[in-house]
Amino acid sequence: MPMSTLKGYAQRLLPDRVQRAMDQLGEMVSVLAEMRDPKVMSSLGPSALRGLVLKRGKQGRPTLTESRHSAYFDWTYPGDQPEMAELYTRAKQGQWDGDDLPWHIDVDFDNADRGMFPMDFLDWELGEELGIKLSEAEKIRLITDMGVWSLSQFLHGEQGALLAAAQVTEAVQFMDGKLYGATQVVDEARHVEVFSRYLETKAGKLYQINDNLFTIIDALMSDGRWDLKFLGMQIMVEGLALGAFGTMYNKTREPLLKELLKNVIQDEARHVHYGVVALREHITGQLTERERREREDWAFEVAMLMRNRFFAYEVYDEWFSHKVSRASWRQFIGRSPGMEEFRTLMFSRLVPNLREIGLLSDRIRPHWERVGLMRFYDGRAADEVTAEDLLAGEAAAIAA
Ligand SMILES: [Fe+2]
Ligand SMILES: [Fe+2]
Repeated sequence: MPMSTLKGYAQRLLPDRVQRAMDQLGEMVSVLAEMRDPKVMSSLGPSALRGLVLKRGKQGRPTLTESRHSAYFDWTYPGDQPEMAELYTRAKQGQWDGDDLPWHIDVDFDNADRGMFPMDFLDWELGEELGIKLSEAEKIRLITDMGVWSLSQFLHGEQGALLAAAQVTEAVQFMDGKLYGATQVVDEARHVEVFSRYLETKAGKLYQINDNLFTIIDALMSDGRWDLKFLGMQIMVEGLALGAFGTMYNKTREPLLKELLKNVIQDEARHVHYGVVALREHITGQLTERERREREDWAFEVAMLMRNRFFAYEVYDEWFSHKVSRASWRQFIGRSPGMEEFRTLMFSRLVPNLREIGLLSDRIRPHWERVGLMRFYDGRAADEVTAEDLLAGEAAAIAA
């Protein structure tokens, strides 16, 4: 008998609780094993410990995160960054009011034609093979819960974005960046408002924060270096958000949600654009080569954390924790068509942005090649992509 089969057999003899603890430990070890650079390990390791082992995001209110950045003042008020000044103007003109969304629309999640996600978001045949056998009504309910779980993570991510945007506005070293940053704080507050209102009044349910999402937010909130905070928030998390919002926008058949996402995506396009402009200036103009290399490694490790780690265990715990193994659930979610589209959209946005800010040098490219993500290298970066492109599913076209 091969060793892996033997191990699987031995594990199944253990009580559920122990099996689950072992699986969670295995995941934590695999996260840490992926961090090859000791400097990256020292910056992400404590957050991984707080997120994945101590589960700080799930310990009730409040979660306190220590933060050690410097607030940067400039009493000369230079008009130093015309591209950021233009984004500031566009942001002021692009403000909208969450109250104006069509909240009167009645949702009907039990009607598969008006669901948050279509039924083919998940691969039901694969599910059957893995022991996930459900009636049609249960399938619709599970799809709805996956939608509610996604929206819950969007909301938690938006809270992270709100607080991080405030920190970045303090720490950024460009005066035009501070003015622009203030508009992003308002944008993120509005996103918290509308996702929270949708979940409360339409879905009536909220899932806890995913441990991997908590780890990433914790890492960038607690890092004292403003440009790493910036890289984490404006490029990595915003890239993740655009992939996730884009997938849901493309797939949802629920009209209120579609309208809500359309508005949010238009704001997010500005946020990533700002990140690219600010970091391009800083990384290519101000950092030493050693500092640049560290950012390059950090971005790769965070991308690996985001690549295949959003498995909706919070839904699994509610539905299947005593029926199928976490490993089977991972396969079911990880290989679902909806998640494939999410990953494609996310990386088709992220990779060109990293190239544009100088974090995809010849030195790191073989690693991106190894994980199959260099195919996005020639895509357009955020400073060339409009909100209309995003809404038209341009990213999906790049990938096709
Ligand atoms: Fe946002
Ligand atoms: Fe944002």
